[in-house]
Amino acid sequence: MSDASGQIDHVLTEDRSFPPPAEFTERAVFSSQSQYEEVYARARDDRDGFWAEEAKQHLHWFEPFTKVFDGQTSKVRWFVDGKTNASYNCLDAQIDAGRGDKNAIVWEGEPGDTRTLTYRELRSEVCKCAAALTEIGITAGDVVSIYMPMTPELPIAMLACARIGAIHSVVFAGFSSESIADRNNDAGAKLVITADGLYRRGKVLPLKETVDEALEKSPTVKNCLVLRRTGNDNVPMTEGRDLWWHDTVDHQSDDFPAVPLDSEAPLFILYTSGSTGKPKGILHTTAGYNLWAKRTFQWVFDHREDDVYWCTADCGWITGHSYVVYGPMAAGATCLMYEGAPNHPAEDRFWDLVEKYKVTILYTAPTAVRAFIKWGDEHVDKHDLSSLRLLGSVGEGINPEAWMWYHKKIGGERCPIVDTWWQTETGGIMMSPLPGITATKPGSCTRPLPGVIPSIVDETGKDVDPNHGGMLCIAEPWPGMLRGIWGDEQRFVEQYWSMIPGKYLTGDNARMDSDGYYWIMGRIDDVINVSGHRLSTIEVESALVSHEAVCEAAVVGREDALKGQAIAAFVTIRGREPNEELRKELKMHVRKQIGALAQPDDIRFAATLPKTRSGKIMRRLLRDVASGREVAGDTSTLEDLSVLAKLNDDEA
Ligand code: PRX
Repeated sequence: MSDASGQIDHVLTEDRSFPPPAEFTERAVFSSQSQYEEVYARARDDRDGFWAEEAKQHLHWFEPFTKVFDGQTSKVRWFVDGKTNASYNCLDAQIDAGRGDKNAIVWEGEPGDTRTLTYRELRSEVCKCAAALTEIGITAGDVVSIYMPMTPELPIAMLACARIGAIHSVVFAGFSSESIADRNNDAGAKLVITADGLYRRGKVLPLKETVDEALEKSPTVKNCLVLRRTGNDNVPMTEGRDLWWHDTVDHQSDDFPAVPLDSEAPLFILYTSGSTGKPKGILHTTAGYNLWAKRTFQWVFDHREDDVYWCTADCGWITGHSYVVYGPMAAGATCLMYEGAPNHPAEDRFWDLVEKYKVTILYTAPTAVRAFIKWGDEHVDKHDLSSLRLLGSVGEGINPEAWMWYHKKIGGERCPIVDTWWQTETGGIMMSPLPGITATKPGSCTRPLPGVIPSIVDETGKDVDPNHGGMLCIAEPWPGMLRGIWGDEQRFVEQYWSMIPGKYLTGDNARMDSDGYYWIMGRIDDVINVSGHRLSTIEVESALVSHEAVCEAAVVGREDALKGQAIAAFVTIRGREPNEELRKELKMHVRKQIGALAQPDDIRFAATLPKTRSGKIMRRLLRDVASGREVAGDTSTLEDLSVLAKLNDDEA
């Protein structure tokens, strides 16, 4: 079942261990193993008591909750009857705590322009935006799609929605107009917030035109709010529908009180790929999510008042939601935000930023680390990285080679590395080293955080023994857990709660070693992880077969030194020659259908696809072919053995 392919061998043989430096431990939030064991045991044995205390202490309540937890498995409510507001927790509560003049966002644009916003200034901007949304007619419960570059206005728009109880649905600015339209329609979005364009490697990419195309197919969207970022000429504006941000937001009052919202009021929807073709809108609600994002941020990043924290994720992904916006801001952190590419104007841009802003905590993805290795050490050597004290990794397993380079070259062998395992669905980090106490092993996300009860099971739902692989489940509810799939209760229950009754099914395979450390070993389904981004193979297949020349398509992941997994597509065609031109055309077609991140790396033309006698495509076999491996395992169920020989020819 596992698709971890080559990575399993890697992790099984990894036994190096790196204890945290003593000077780190001395000042750490978690500074002894016994402290962790104690907190972990309390959260497990007195769940409601533990979270009641946490919630009272770490969130602002307009009205207190009357019950900590209600429900079971898929249907849960946390902090019942309580009223809070995530924007209040991230802004007003910080000002009340004396952080009004502290920098909340330190921003640098790709061209080198800069901007800083203190918590007080950020609150003013969020208030103006909230007032503008209200004027446009957005009220609590309405869905707002956000398709923007990584400018301060992106978190401002998110927090403005949160302030009035509107539900944001951020769509990563690399997605196609088709993908935006699908998300608008699924969510019933009333407004889209976008920009005239974004900077990418020195070029201006238009955004508004892409949104316009999407809006032709988005009947629920009434308005479009447009930020002027790049100043490119001739941005099309439709009278009566489109509004410039500077005309609509800037003149508003900078005081707009946060609306007290129910603990379970939807905070956002974020679309992610599942095992079927249609992305699912993962729903997170207000109090539990905000608390989880805040506390996991404080625990895992060992946050101190004077830290300069940089999470390099885009707000279009869950990492940006939880660890650019809701976690760090609810903890009053100073967050660096960078708009552009890591190799513009040169491959040392990240290290230039770390040196310039004296970044102390860096949270990035293994795919980025592998790119830095490829670009060469000289780009790192040019810069003073001595401000760094902690490094983080997220999105996919970090291979030991990349881990060691990150540790030595970026961390100067003094910074602990937190390899954080979690998902869009979990809301925040679930398993990670605690940097002051956990001896790290390259490639392992180590131990669960307080409140997380992992369970690794076999197909019958029975827990497997240590050192055995199985399906990773979470056995008990936690405050940050997803509350549903937008508009699809049935899929929610089927996907996560049916296969292993009573437990949340993560979709990942994992193994726990004799030290109680967890090792993630790839997915149990047809989800692939390309540069830390989740994609469903079926989604890419659907895009391919929507091209007139494609009869059938099968998509698999193959190992890739840079991206982790690359997308390999096998297609059978009609009416066209199997040549380079068609290959390019099909790649562009997928790009147009989904977005650049889904563009296949390889397209192979096949006469037929290998199927079992019952007609199922044999992906395992295609994975071997795509990776250039000898086809291993049982091929006895293959309907026509000659298909196999032809697959390697790569011409129909
Ligand atoms: O397979 C796991 C992998 O990414 C999936 C979640 O993807 P997404 O919802 O897009 O969220 C990414 C950011 C949290 C997981 O099911 N994954 C994420 N982090 C790790 C990981 N695999 C191994 N180690 C990790 N640290």
